[in-house]
Amino acid sequence: MNQDNQSSYIQGFSKWGLQKKLEFMSSLTGIDINVLMKYAWPDEDIANIINKLSENTVAHFPFPYGLAPNFKIQDETHVLPLVTEESSVVAALANAAKIWYTKGGFRNKVLGTIKKGQIHVFWSGQPELFFKRFSKFKSKLLDATRNISGRMEKRGGGVLGVELLDKTKELPNYYQLDVSFNTLDAMGANFINTVLEKMAQEFEKNMAQEFPGELPVEVVMSILSNFTPDCLVKAWVECPIESLDDVIKGMPGAEFASRFQKAIQISQVDVSRAVTHNKGIFNGIDALALATGNDWRAIESAGHAYAARSGKYQGLTKVYIDEKMFSFSIELPMNIGVVGGVTNLHPMAALSMKILKNPSGNELMGMFAVVGLASNFAAITALIGQGIQQGHMKLHLDNILQQLGADKNQSQKAREFFKGKTVSYANVEEYISNLK
Ligand code: MEV
Repeated sequence: MNQDNQSSYIQGFSKWGLQKKLEFMSSLTGIDINVLMKYAWPDEDIANIINKLSENTVAHFPFPYGLAPNFKIQDETHVLPLVTEESSVVAALANAAKIWYTKGGFRNKVLGTIKKGQIHVFWSGQPELFFKRFSKFKSKLLDATRNISGRMEKRGGGVLGVELLDKTKELPNYYQLDVSFNTLDAMGANFINTVLEKMAQEFEKNMAQEFPGELPVEVVMSILSNFTPDCLVKAWVECPIESLDDVIKGMPGAEFASRFQKAIQISQVDVSRAVTHNKGIFNGIDALALATGNDWRAIESAGHAYAARSGKYQGLTKVYIDEKMFSFSIELPMNIGVVGGVTNLHPMAALSMKILKNPSGNELMGMFAVVGLASNFAAITALIGQGIQQGHMKLHLDNILQQLGADKNQSQKAREFFKGKTVSYANVEEYISNLK
């Protein structure tokens, strides 16, 4: 550490009280403490709950919380709560919901709910003997975790099984204990990790007993896998091609279907397009994940890995057209929960659950697949039609006007002036400064 680094190094920051942390932030930014305090949620009870979700909390970072109505899912109408900072996402979803409302709505099906975790171990002894002795004490691993999984088992879930996998061809001496779980309505990360850590201890104990005097087995780590290809959900829409007439103004249904299909085909063959295609899918999924307090990083990483499962990264949606019908679907892993974690703790996430009519875990998995499909439908429809910039720019203009501190009158004039014109920060800035 050089001298400057030494003087700026902070000792024990986490132990500082809020006031001291705010003073520090004030010294960093030159912003008055009274102003910084306005960045906190005004209700103290709610603020206290949110503070405890993470560490070193000094403020709360609000995103817009919006609603997309008219989602017909399995013949029932839903309103989806969505948290996103990106303009157009909620409007696009509301529009997709409206289009499909009169065409039969969205359908979904949960294809599997199995989740996995692994105990990663290194063992330099004889493989055959390892497998033989492991099968002898395998049931003890399950017995040792019963007090953790008992409640989950009573409700029909729990640990489903444990397998020893030989990975030595990929990495010398590397084996895995691959453990399967059903965590029911919970995402189950804590449950899975607790079971795995306990199981690892029992495994080490049994290995020491089975192979006395030999080099001990090395447990490197025990952790759930966020790759959940067996916790899978599908959503789809379907309608006669002719009922797609005018989804894009003036475009016949057959032309719409054909252009739409080409856009999907491109996402299957070209990785540059596939990544953007899937990003649009996650615009909707992440917004619902945030609103419901679900772990969007886990959902994203599983989704992207699934998109690359063939060895080539591809779009997550598929389209099928015959002479009469247009079908559009998505299939992706969805590890989410409706109990545990932040879902019930965060007051806004709890509110979202009420808006969603308190779905079961499987029902919410279906909604996630639907919102991803709808988001992609909206994006492709815009892209094969007028493009996305026209819609985006209206909202973008509002953001720029806000940044420039334009008043109501100036904003009104700017909206009129920029109708059909190119919106850029420089253009708008020049226009507003001329007005001023
Ligand atoms: C923008 O956030 C998302 C899109 O780029 C998705 C897509 O291109 O499919 C519009």
